[in-house]
Amino acid sequence: MPLLNILRFPDPRLHKIAKPVAVFDDRLKKLVADMAETMYEAPGVGLAATQVDVHERVIVIDTSETRDDLRVFINPEIVWASPDKCLYEEGCLSVPGVYDGVERPSRVKARALDVEGRPFEVEADGLLAVCIQHEMDHLMGKVFVEYLSPLKRNRIKQKLLKEEREEKRQAQKAVAR
Ligand code: NI
Repeated sequence: MPLLNILRFPDPRLHKIAKPVAVFDDRLKKLVADMAETMYEAPGVGLAATQVDVHERVIVIDTSETRDDLRVFINPEIVWASPDKCLYEEGCLSVPGVYDGVERPSRVKARALDVEGRPFEVEADGLLAVCIQHEMDHLMGKVFVEYLSPLKRNRIKQKLLKEEREEKRQAQKAVAR
């Protein structure tokens, strides 16, 4: 199965809004399998379809230490969020090398469908709660750096654009050689 290309901030495609999945077929199963493989390979604890330029409401998450507890959320919704918040140092595969504190509800209840279209609910706290909310933001076209100050966000944008230019230069050099 192929690894998928992960879009990097500030790619404008990260701001597209994902559509609900309507058909639960082999194409969806393949997308989920490829997303899971891409997440494990990266490695990351979560990946939203938006990040691989597929604008459908699909998320894969594995917050386990042992990396063997894949959770798939299709068309996820948050049905309850706790009034108490927690501050968590977040990172994102679309914003490599950047970590910063984001405050979110510390517990959430989410409802979603599995890859066969069967509904389920999960009540989450800790890293899983953070991760569900972070990935669901991606589906709405929101990257976690948007919670940071404009100054910080701009600094991150310039840093990533510079890294991208540098990578392109290295790739061109390799071709010219
Ligand atoms: Ni992310």
